[in-house]
Amino acid sequence: MNQDQWNEIERYTAALLAKSDKHLTAALAASAKGGLPSIQVSPVEGKMLMILAQAVRARRILEIGTLGGYSTIWLARGLPDDGRLITLEADPKHAKVARKNITDAGLAERVEVREGLALNLLPKLNAKRDGPFDLTFIDADKQNTWEYFDWAVKLSRGGSLIVVDNVVRHGALANVASDDPNVRGMRRFCEMVANDKRVNASVIQTVGSKGYDGFAIAVVRGVA
Ligand code: SAH
Ligand code: DHB
Ligand code: MG
Repeated sequence: MNQDQWNEIERYTAALLAKSDKHLTAALAASAKGGLPSIQVSPVEGKMLMILAQAVRARRILEIGTLGGYSTIWLARGLPDDGRLITLEADPKHAKVARKNITDAGLAERVEVREGLALNLLPKLNAKRDGPFDLTFIDADKQNTWEYFDWAVKLSRGGSLIVVDNVVRHGALANVASDDPNVRGMRRFCEMVANDKRVNASVIQTVGSKGYDGFAIAVVRGVA
């Protein structure tokens, strides 16, 4: 098993199941042109986010960490016509590129990009007015993942899903001695979530064009 094989399988499966289209291709091109880092979810991961949104019949989605809006577009495509997505982004340049990509993809009506530090914006969201969110995708600075997750639970309903990206990055998650703040952030998240009676959570490892990584997925307890 090696990176070449992971890439080959990703190309094969993406070509069948997560085909790009002019909007996704344009969003990636505009993000690259704008100098944004190419760290968005892969096409098959984006499609998985869309499927999760459809599976929970999401009408309200929250995203933390927009970048150029690539994952946003996939998530928003999992919403019904009257669905709404709020995505939080700290970098004004990223937010600007994302707004244009989202508008060009025909999703401006459904998607609002809120600019600022997520920890400042989350307390301003109201579970009743803006949510409750049926699905939250956490994909911003990794050190604050636990704080974002805690907010996401408060803004959820029973049955809501919370998905966290980059939990396993490079397979360092189990390394107690790691001094990488991202790894420490994800270890803290895993340890906190394990003891959180509000949710039921698991972690799935992934390989592909983004290397060796993984997602956490949690369902908020209680009836919908
Ligand atoms: N979800 C995107 C990728 C997000 S990359 C996709 O898959 O397409 C992470 C993003 O989080 C970057 O754009 C970064 O600027 C943003 N970010 C980092 N720290 C943040 C913070 N404290 N609050 C909000 N956004 C933040
Ligand atoms: C990085 C961030 C991400 O959200 C990701 O999916 C991959 C890499 C990063 O900051 O390097
Ligand atoms: Mg990510």
